[in-house]
Amino acid sequence: MGLAELLADDIGPGERELLPRGWSILGRVVIVKIDPGIEHLKGEIGEALLDIYPRCITVLLDRGIEGQFREPDREVIAGSAETETVHREDGVVFKLDPMRTMFSPGNLKERMRMGRLGGGETVVDMFAGIGYFTLPMAVHSRPRKIVAIEINPVAYGYLVENVRLNHVEDIVQPILGDCAVATPKGVADRVVMGYVGTTDRYLDAGMAALVPGGLLHYHQTVPERIYPQMLKSDLAEAAKRAGRKVRIERCARVKKYSPGMLHAVLDARVE
Ligand SMILES: C[S@@+](CC[C@H](N)C(=O)[O-])C[C@H]1O[C@@H](n2cnc3c(N)ncnc32)[C@H](O)[C@@H]1O
Repeated sequence: MGLAELLADDIGPGERELLPRGWSILGRVVIVKIDPGIEHLKGEIGEALLDIYPRCITVLLDRGIEGQFREPDREVIAGSAETETVHREDGVVFKLDPMRTMFSPGNLKERMRMGRLGGGETVVDMFAGIGYFTLPMAVHSRPRKIVAIEINPVAYGYLVENVRLNHVEDIVQPILGDCAVATPKGVADRVVMGYVGTTDRYLDAGMAALVPGGLLHYHQTVPERIYPQMLKSDLAEAAKRAGRKVRIERCARVKKYSPGMLHAVLDARVE
């Protein structure tokens, strides 16, 4: 049975159209956005989702992600108050607490792409989070080394635990700190900048980390009407400041971010 059928006795006229049509599942936790017009039904919606997914133990209402640390604004609306869970994806184990750390289902293809790159290389992941890109790369491609930097102590704690759970301690070196200062210089064959909004402020550090001929993955949010020019000019300006040459190898949309805005990634070779 679907949500509308399960809630048939609870919803009033006009409320059916406002019911959520999608949600995500991380491990045993369901995460759902609810239209403010039917927030009074959040308990009923949560219970109905638990009926649909009997394996799941908790339902969280999602109001978005906030600030530099990417902290979710969420609330338990049904099930257990215990929200820590283990999410398995593409052969990788991610332990996380969706009440305290983000995990974007929309970035799945990009996580899988990262899992096919980096074999034998030295990699710097400047915004490592709980290991979104570091872990698929370490598990599937086995780089020589990944320096994984994360500023949020909660996400860093899960990063350290996930490195252990995926048995990649010999590859990943987690660092708790600000990548603007903690990024090593002149060591990396590949740099991952998996953060959006103000990523351009970190381009100098990202570029300085690369050996000549290394590859930069520059993520950014960009208004659709100036995609991909904005990303290319950010790169060109950073290259000019660093006195280095860049060659764009690929530019792709990761996902729709908000109305009129894209999350995109640009891959550039830096000489
Ligand atoms: C949450 S991840 C991005 C999500 C990821 N791309 C995915 O696949 O879901 C971004 C991380 O960068 C971290 N961060 C933000 N500013 C930072 C900085 N200056 N240095 C290191 N980490 C930083 C945030 O705390 C956050 O955990």
